[in-house]
Amino acid sequence: MTKYSPQPLPPGPLYQAIVQALARDIRAGTLKPLDRLPTHRDLADDLGVTVGTVTRAYKLAQRRGLIRGEVGRGSYVAGPGSDVLPQHEITTLPPEVLDLRLNLPPYDRGPDLNQVLERMSRGGDLAELLKYQPSAGMPRHRAAGAAWIRMCGLEVGADEVVICNGAQHAILTVLTALARPGDTVLAEALTYPGVKTLAGILGLRLEPVAMDEEGLIPESLDAVCRRRKARVLYCMPTLHNPTTGTLSEARRREIARLAEFHDLYIIEDDVHRLLPREVAPPVAAFARRRTFYIPGISKTLAGGLRIAYLTAPRKFQEALTRGIAATTWLAPPLMAEIAAIWIEDGTALRTLENKREEAAVRQEMAARILGSHVGRRGTAAYHLWLELPAPWRGSQFAEESTRAGVSVLPAELFTVGHAQAPQAVRVSLTAAPDRAVLNAGLRRLAELLDRPPEPAPFIL
Ligand SMILES: Cc1ncc(COP(=O)(O)O)c(C=O)c1O
Repeated sequence: MTKYSPQPLPPGPLYQAIVQALARDIRAGTLKPLDRLPTHRDLADDLGVTVGTVTRAYKLAQRRGLIRGEVGRGSYVAGPGSDVLPQHEITTLPPEVLDLRLNLPPYDRGPDLNQVLERMSRGGDLAELLKYQPSAGMPRHRAAGAAWIRMCGLEVGADEVVICNGAQHAILTVLTALARPGDTVLAEALTYPGVKTLAGILGLRLEPVAMDEEGLIPESLDAVCRRRKARVLYCMPTLHNPTTGTLSEARRREIARLAEFHDLYIIEDDVHRLLPREVAPPVAAFARRRTFYIPGISKTLAGGLRIAYLTAPRKFQEALTRGIAATTWLAPPLMAEIAAIWIEDGTALRTLENKREEAAVRQEMAARILGSHVGRRGTAAYHLWLELPAPWRGSQFAEESTRAGVSVLPAELFTVGHAQAPQAVRVSLTAAPDRAVLNAGLRRLAELLDRPPEPAPFIL
């Protein structure tokens, strides 16, 4: 394309109007991925605005993932699937604002690192852990991973497990083995933002599958598969992030059946698997030959270890190991050793119990303070999904709650493609440093819910 002009500009502040026009033209297909955009000076001249206004607009459009800018290449339209605020661009908040935006486990209930380091320093040969090891992980560490996956309800042997640098890396590893740029990946209509960021980087197109209170609706999966050529489904059947829905066994079986029918591979992100005391078997148990299962340990043991176990159909073992080698060579053996010790000596299960307890207390507190606004679906989760009374909108509530001293994330950040965002926000209960601070924060949210939003600006 030669000369693009974002005319007509919608009403409102000029720099925001330019961003809205860019978003509109990308949606309409007038602007395509990798199309070059005018220079700041050219666009300023075209619109009769200052260069500063265009610079501000381009910066905002970049933060929203609409466009990219590179030295020497100028600005251009971002690839498909990248219409998301990348995680690393979540803004820094003033210290007085309580940050309930990120899905953090309760840190004060974590395992004792001093103890395990002391124990490791007293016995054994640690030098092994400083050597390069096989990319799939050391056999002992893979055995610990298999034990963890068996706790999640899936019978696996150590040779079926590879060790990744956290669940995010495991998802990346699977996507690089299964999908090529331009491919469509199916996902629940609201999804984990980390997957949206990955799709943007890998040039994958995310296609939404409809959800209800429980989560992914199999009939919608069936309909999307009939309409669209797709090989991969990414889903979160247990304590879905952000909605906290958990799928029944019947739905899990049906998803497995549909995967077989439509020749679909499933990436089952089950990082919250062990938080509820009772839950149906993983989808992987019903679709073993088609499922890449990622139970993760970050949410239940320790995120800073950057370790996750991944099990997959045998025929992909080699491709996954190659993916790990290509992206990180191998997950740090020292960290995998710590995780293995904790799994073997029972620390992992005790830690899980502590974190479950903290999550339950905080969920009860939220139910008391926020009353009917919170559903009762994910009471074992670290976060809650707050459905807003009319006329609140998710983005407006998120903005006003930050001004009131508590920051939460609006539904828009979780939507896939052009799926409609519900009027809701995600509140991470265990991100608050302690219960008292959370209590005060939730009270502020409740006050906000009880009063109407700021009136909309008057627009002709
Ligand atoms: C659903 C989901 N999957 C994956 C991850 C990433 O986990 P990890 O820290 O192990 O990379 C998160 C982190 O918040 C998550 O919420």
